Amino acid sequence: MRRKLIVGNWKMHGSLASNAELLAGIRAAEPFNCDAGVCVPYPYLAACVLALQGSSVALGAQDCSAHEQGAYTGEVSAAMLADVGCRYVIVGHSERRAMHGEGDQLVADKAKIALAKGLVPIVCVGETLAEREADQTEAVVKRQLSAVIHTLGPCISRVVVAYEPVWAIGTGKTASPEQAQAVHAVLRTQLRAATEGADQMKILYGGSVKPDNAATLFAQPDIDGGLIGGASLKAADFVAICRAAS
Ligand code: PGA
Repeated sequence: MRRKLIVGNWKMHGSLASNAELLAGIRAAEPFNCDAGVCVPYPYLAACVLALQGSSVALGAQDCSAHEQGAYTGEVSAAMLADVGCRYVIVGHSERRAMHGEGDQLVADKAKIALAKGLVPIVCVGETLAEREADQTEAVVKRQLSAVIHTLGPCISRVVVAYEPVWAIGTGKTASPEQAQAVHAVLRTQLRAATEGADQMKILYGGSVKPDNAATLFAQPDIDGGLIGGASLKAADFVAICRAAS
């Protein structure tokens, strides 16, 4: 059986003081019977590394540059993230695709450099409400994943995939467990065609996961955990979701 993975995506939230309190609350509830991580804003990575010393909760970032290094003002490289102690990096979050114009190939290039620098990329895919209503869900997520498969080749088995329907992010509308499972099964089938390791890969669900809906989502055969936004900002909620994955 695949061990579940719960990753908090703090987005642009937090402060030195509130992060310390949040991580202390999470640490007080360890150990968890799942893998766990938190993806925090860049300026807080260093403090969070220290706060997580000796913890099983891994650290991650929310994006990285597709470039190795150089004159890219404002960008942060995958090597820098690995250097400061990150294990994970989210790439292709729908907020970056929509607000920062990130396309499928850029996301794939970010996943590639993240892997090359020793990070585990969490590659996000997901359809908008208009795409779902136009019956495009399958085509959209397959197109998004296919760019990554094509760019990584057999290394695709080393990424984590996160299915996040855009209409469910931060809206309080969760995909039903059946809706989510249906898309996860499509993604798993696509991965099976690309790598023998597909059955060991983790496919997370994200979009308004809360303590009260987590267990039924995680009970689905192809849902291997969650990428958690809003609920990852409260220690009690994040811990409850980790318990639901145990
Ligand atoms: P949400 O965000 O849990 O607040 O819906 C999930 C995400 O964007 O990763």
